[in-house]
Amino acid sequence: MAKPKKRYVCQACGSISHRWQGQCADCAEWNTLAEDAPATVFSLKHDLSSGGRAVEFVDLDKPGALPTRQPTGLAEFDRALGGGLVPGSAILMGGDPGIGKSTLLLQAAGRIAREGHGVVYVSGEEATGQVRMRAARLGLSDAPVKLAAATGVRDILTTLGQMDAPRFLVIDSIQTMHSDTIEGAPGTVSQVRGCAFELIRYAKENNVALVLVGHVTKDGSIAGPRVLEHMVDVVMSFEGERSHQYRILRALKNRFGAVDEIGVFSMAGEGLEEVANPSLLFLSGRDEPMAGSAVFPAIEGTRPVLLEIQALIVRLQSGATPRRAVVGWDSGRLAMLLAVLESRCGLNFSSAEVYLNVAGGYRLSDPAADLAVAAALVSALADKPLPDRSVWLGEVSLAGEIRPVAHGALRLREAAKLGFAKGFGPVGGNGKEATLDYAGLGQLANLVDRVVGSA
Ligand code: TYD
Ligand code: MG
Repeated sequence: MAKPKKRYVCQACGSISHRWQGQCADCAEWNTLAEDAPATVFSLKHDLSSGGRAVEFVDLDKPGALPTRQPTGLAEFDRALGGGLVPGSAILMGGDPGIGKSTLLLQAAGRIAREGHGVVYVSGEEATGQVRMRAARLGLSDAPVKLAAATGVRDILTTLGQMDAPRFLVIDSIQTMHSDTIEGAPGTVSQVRGCAFELIRYAKENNVALVLVGHVTKDGSIAGPRVLEHMVDVVMSFEGERSHQYRILRALKNRFGAVDEIGVFSMAGEGLEEVANPSLLFLSGRDEPMAGSAVFPAIEGTRPVLLEIQALIVRLQSGATPRRAVVGWDSGRLAMLLAVLESRCGLNFSSAEVYLNVAGGYRLSDPAADLAVAAALVSALADKPLPDRSVWLGEVSLAGEIRPVAHGALRLREAAKLGFAKGFGPVGGNGKEATLDYAGLGQLANLVDRVVGSA
C-alpha cells in the first residue's frame, strides 16, 4: 500500500494542499497552511450496496415531529434566532473577543436553568471561578447551571452520557476543545472540525440545543475552517464596537428562520440589557443642526433604526496625498460617491481629507444610505448644516441619479413618528404615505443646490 501522503490544510479556508506553501492558493492568506493527519485512502473495490442498516423514512407531515422552541429568556436573542432555540440544533456564535459572547450565553443559560431545565455550560477558556464571578455580577449565582471548566471532548461527552441530557449546552469556545482521536493542537482545522462533529452528533441524538462559541479573525470570518459554518444549523454573529455600549446579534445563516432579524443589546454594568425599541439608539442627542451630519432611516430586519452619518472634510494646503477614512461604511462606496459628486456635481474633494463615520459604532451596508452619506459630505464641504430635523434616503447611481429604495414608506413613517419633519429621497418615493414633508430629488445635483443654495 502506498504511504499516505502528507497533507497541509489552510487554517483560514480549509483547502487542502499536498505541499507546504507560504500562501494558500485558494484564499491567498499567508502562513495559514498547517500539517494535518493524512486522509484515509478508500479502495475502489469497496462495495457499499450491501451490509448496511436500513434507513428509516418518515413523512413530511408526521404528527408530533415538529420540535417546540425553547425561549432563551432574552426576547432579543429569541428574535435573532427566529423565535427561540430549536432542540437538537447547533448554533455557532461568532464575534470579536470581549464583545460579550460569554456574557450573553451565561445570561441565557441562567434564565433557562431558572425555568427548571437542565443547562450545562462548559468553559474552555476561563476557570470556573471566573465564570462564577461573572454570574455573581449578572445576578445569576442562584441559577442551577451545571458549570465545568474542561477542554477534552471525550471527557465532556462521557460526563454528559452519564446524566440526563440537558436542554441547553454551551461550549465556550470550540477553538479550545481537543479530541484525543484526532492529531493536532486545539484550534487547528482538523481538531475544530472533529470536536464540532462529535458535539453536534451528541446534540442531535439527545435533542439538546447546542451553542458553540467561535472566535473571529481580523477580517471578520469565524476562525477555523468555513466548513464549521456548513456543519451547524445557525450561524450567529455578535457585533459592535467594543468602546460603544451597543451590541447587535445577527443570524448569518438560519435553517429555522429568517436571517434578517437582529437582536439589540446594550452592555451595562450588570451584563447585557435588551433594547426593545432601537430606532433612536444611534442618534446623538444633539438639538441644533451641525454641518456634516445627516440622518438615515435604516431598516434592520423588520425594524427601522435611525442612524446619524457624520462627515468631516479637512482642506490640505500642501500637495500631500489626502486621506479617506471610513468607520461603519464601505470605503469603496465612499470612493464611488466622491467620484460621482466630483464628476456630476462639479464639487472638488481631491485636495481634501475625507472622514466618514456612522455614529454609535453601527456598521451599515444598505445602498439606500448613499443619499444620506452624500448629504453629509456636501454639507461638510459647504460647511452648512442640512435642514433641521431631516432624514435622507436613496441609492445613488454612477450617473448621479437618485434611485428608489426598499421599505421607503416604513422608513419615513418611523422618522415622522420620532419627530422628524422633512424627508428627502427619490422622486415619487413613498413620500405621500408618510406624515412628513417630503421632497423628491431626481439628481445628486439637486441635493447640492438644496444644501449650497439654502442660506
Ligand atoms: P465577554 O462576555 O467575556 O466577551 P467574549 O466572551 O465575547 O470574549 O465580555 C467581556 C466584556 O464585557 C468585558 O470587556 C467587560 C464587559 N462586561 C460588562 O461591561 N458588564 C458585565 O456585566 C459583564 C459581565 C461584562
Ligand atoms: Mg468569552
